[in-house]
Amino acid sequence: MIDQSKFIKALNKEINTTPPIWYMRQAGRYLPEYRKIRSKFKNFLDMCKDPDVCCELALQPIERFNLDASILFSDILTIPDAFNLGVEFKEGEGPVFKNPIRTIQDIENLPRFNEMELSYVYKCVENIRRALPKDLPLIGFCGSPWTLAAYSIEGGSSKEFAFTKNFIRQNPLQTKNLLKIYTDSCFKYLKEQVNAGVNAIQIFDSWANLLDEKDYKSYSLFYINELVRQLKNDPITKKIPVIVFARQPKSGIEQLIDCKPDCISLYWDESIDDSIKLLKNKTAIQGSFNPSILKEDNSIIYEEVKIMIEKFRGYPGYIFNLGHGITPDINPDKVKFLTDSVRGL
Ligand code: CP3
Repeated sequence: MIDQSKFIKALNKEINTTPPIWYMRQAGRYLPEYRKIRSKFKNFLDMCKDPDVCCELALQPIERFNLDASILFSDILTIPDAFNLGVEFKEGEGPVFKNPIRTIQDIENLPRFNEMELSYVYKCVENIRRALPKDLPLIGFCGSPWTLAAYSIEGGSSKEFAFTKNFIRQNPLQTKNLLKIYTDSCFKYLKEQVNAGVNAIQIFDSWANLLDEKDYKSYSLFYINELVRQLKNDPITKKIPVIVFARQPKSGIEQLIDCKPDCISLYWDESIDDSIKLLKNKTAIQGSFNPSILKEDNSIIYEEVKIMIEKFRGYPGYIFNLGHGITPDINPDKVKFLTDSVRGL
């Protein structure tokens, strides 16, 4: 039944008359019902460790907007947390690591990854799967090995990630060891998410933009490629469609095709016409709608949706989504208007 859903059909490169819709960061601070629950937890990751609360949070945008796919409520930094890097989310600061990877010894001393330490995530998947309508797909996810490594080395978020760039320049081999460790961990983690019931997977390479073309190939693409290869070679995960989102990779999206994902999720500044030419009959396409358009008047939102829908009409495998996550300043009524507009055109 899930296979007949618009979302999975699109991932299998089938044409839908109306595209399936879901949004990156569809659950989050722009929703008052999210903020109400969030206020009960000091540390965001503590909330992520409560499978009942996370189930409720994942369902909030589905109930409000009747979307075509649900996404697991969790975070990409659960893996570094399971490596005891001490991930905390401070109010207004983003993530902060108490024990970042500062030296090559820190990489050598990393504990062995035990995917069962993240059983709270799999429990959450089971809860959401049980609560969702049978034909509504659930997306599982992880960060790309590179994006996880960048946060782990930097010790949090940063504009330039200067420490990380310096670290990889001085310790290329050790960085690659870390990337390999994260790749294998991501595979095991995603496999357990699939065992628990996810129907599709998204890999977030949110810090793709930090690397030049050559480094992007050897520090990020190589490991996304290896992760997708592992997923496609395992009997449990091989049929699960894989979406890759990369933010402004210097090489463009062309090289992502070599990783053989089922779908590429476009950042909002990527050229749609070029992407369609490049990806047609190779992968499905998701995303691209600029999230800041949600700050505009409804008439502008409507016009922008019209343009986007026209461009993708007849594309074999198109999923309506934003070119990055919904920001906390967005009025949920705008998300409702956007969704209705896509469905009405
Ligand atoms: O509906 C959903 O998408 C919710 C599930 C989800 C979250 N994070 C919840 C979250 C998903 C899929 C993510 C992915 C994620 N996390 C990414 C990749 C997507 C992207 O935006 O590029 C990244 C880079 C992270 C790391 C992260 N998590 C940061 C930098 C921050 C702090 C700043 C921010 O963007 O909010 C988070 C916190 C976070 N993750 C929140 C939520 C709802 C907000 C936490 C809060 O309420 O304090």
